[in-house]
Amino acid sequence: MKKFEISTTHPYNICIGSNIMPNSGTLISEVLEPCKIAIITDTNVNSLYSQVFLTSLIESGFEVSKIIFPAGEHSKNLNTYGNVLEALADEGISRSDAIASLGGGVVGDISGFAAATYMRGIKFLQIPTSYISAIDASVGGKTGINLLSGKNLAGAFWQPSLVICDTKVFETLPPEQIMEGVAEAMKLGICFDSNLIPRIIDRDYPYIIERAVSIKKYIVEADELDVGLRQMLNFGHTIGHCIEKASAYSIPHGVAVAKGMAAEAKACAAMGLTSVDVYEKISSILTEATFDLSIDFDASELYQYALLDKKISHGKIAITVTDQIGQSHLEKISLSQLKLFFESAF
Ligand code: GLY
Repeated sequence: MKKFEISTTHPYNICIGSNIMPNSGTLISEVLEPCKIAIITDTNVNSLYSQVFLTSLIESGFEVSKIIFPAGEHSKNLNTYGNVLEALADEGISRSDAIASLGGGVVGDISGFAAATYMRGIKFLQIPTSYISAIDASVGGKTGINLLSGKNLAGAFWQPSLVICDTKVFETLPPEQIMEGVAEAMKLGICFDSNLIPRIIDRDYPYIIERAVSIKKYIVEADELDVGLRQMLNFGHTIGHCIEKASAYSIPHGVAVAKGMAAEAKACAAMGLTSVDVYEKISSILTEATFDLSIDFDASELYQYALLDKKISHGKIAITVTDQIGQSHLEKISLSQLKLFFESAF
């Protein structure tokens, strides 16, 4: 097992290893006093992993309760969030107790937001069970829910006390869930480390996860609150989030991000921010990874959704420009340039 220390305002470890979930209780007892732990999970993950996780917690002397909500992005809303808070209160969870998120990005985002706000904040543990949440959402303390108006519009930064990433669970993920993680991993390869790309194609999970976590560690330690460098992680997300919203979340996040990366690179090339060659390389990397890069929505509709992007500040938004594969920078553009950006992306 490898440990990465994330030195944010509240430092914590990310433990990565194969088949470490059955040892969760021991790892957690190194960071938490005996307490109640509310496991928050979804209907899919509950049947797969909650028993082994729960048993391990009980064996280590924790009192355990479980809160389950329906799997899927549609659950990431005020209603589920409210139900989770009420369930925590019904279970008698106090300020000295903790929440454990067992699941993918949706479970992690809702559980983390509940942990950040229940009784003004309680301890939080992340046990990512999807490839995409292991390399992205479980690192860096972003939590939140979607509003009717758009994605992740309510949330908080709330760092976990520990992340336990069992790479064995990725061996049994269905192909569409693997592709979700491939998209976010490709984003890191394209923006920061071209050597990562062949390892992603080879599905070398331990290497990819450790490299992805070390890239995110560097970024979130430098910019925990997402006001500068961290915004580079939004490559593909400015357009990708709008695609998700326009599809009423029927297009999964990773698939939308892959389409968004190609579209944003095309727009950057059209606006003279990068070369056409870089756009073509990005497009070919993603196509070879079997992503369908077509977008069936109007630029004007997607642009309307982008106007609620959280990154907009003082009438400007930072977009990630790839200079060459493995090297990127941020460029601040005005909202009128953003309109052109969307028009140039199609
Ligand atoms: N998922 C992007 C970030 O953590 O900033």
